[in-house]
Amino acid sequence: MEEKIKELKELAKQEIEKVTNLEELNNYRLKFSGKQGLLTEIMRGMREVAQEKRAAVGALVNEVRTFVEGVIKNLEEKLNEKKLNEKLSNEKIDITEPSKEGEYGAIHPLYKTFNKLIDACVELGFEVVTGPEVEVDKYNFEKLNVPKDHPARDMQDTFYITDDILLRTQTSSVQARVMENRKPPIKIVSPGRTYRVDNDATHSPVFHQFEGLVVDKNVSMLDLKMTLNKLIKILFGENTETRFRPSFFPFTEPSVEVDVTCPYCGGTGCNLCKHTGFIELLGAGMVNPKVLDGCGIDSKVYSGFAFGQGVDRLCMVMDKIPDMRMLFESDMRFLNQVK
Ligand code: PHE
Repeated sequence: MEEKIKELKELAKQEIEKVTNLEELNNYRLKFSGKQGLLTEIMRGMREVAQEKRAAVGALVNEVRTFVEGVIKNLEEKLNEKKLNEKLSNEKIDITEPSKEGEYGAIHPLYKTFNKLIDACVELGFEVVTGPEVEVDKYNFEKLNVPKDHPARDMQDTFYITDDILLRTQTSSVQARVMENRKPPIKIVSPGRTYRVDNDATHSPVFHQFEGLVVDKNVSMLDLKMTLNKLIKILFGENTETRFRPSFFPFTEPSVEVDVTCPYCGGTGCNLCKHTGFIELLGAGMVNPKVLDGCGIDSKVYSGFAFGQGVDRLCMVMDKIPDMRMLFESDMRFLNQVK
């Protein structure tokens, strides 16, 4: 028996030398100190050892067990450390290596145009106000002097949700909301999304408008002209000229259409301005007294002007975009070109 135990210790000594990784160490552990291992087997044989020898043999077995467990623990620590070091050196990061070019997001061309308009108007002292896109007829039309069955409704082909609820066709609806709820002086701009039943290269069923409104005592056509001239010069440069043409909108009287010198040819004539030297930019006018009175503002005391413009059209001009619908298709090839 003693002989067997000594042989086992010899074997344990030899085999531990061959262990090079944690998996082999585990097999070693099973082989020697596991439940089915060689040490357990020897313990089972104790029954056959004579009574007086048991203590000595038992001590010998324990010595081997202590030895085996000791070498396992020792080697396990070393192997774990080795594994960690290997992992660390494999995962080393070279912080001097140049980074790969990533994909960066950018502001949509339309919103860049919006931001330019908003910045320019804030510079001129306007406050930014927004309103709902799903609007009631009252604010989109009636308060703006366009009662039901009025022929002016034909100018704006409308998406109706019910008889009274619609997708707003113009941000002028915000004008009506603000005038109904505030006392002058009022000086606001309202940017936002608008909808009309329209779909071709220069019209999209969803588009964007930017509306301005000033109401106070003694506001005149001169204020309108000066403000728009100033705004246009901020947007297009000091040398830009404006042209005011008579026009018609139910909520303004008198009404004008404002053109600016073509930003591409500077007024000499090109394809973009159809060789007229001017491009059509916005609609404007003095707020119709009927609209003021309808919103609870006394038109004998106060007057005002309003202007509204299509932001998509402006963006097309600024970025030379041939089809308005491209702005809404989210095609990265297009967006990367104009960003
Ligand atoms: N809301 C008008 C339109 O969509 C534009 C406009 C706004 C005209 C304000 C005059 C004053 O056509």
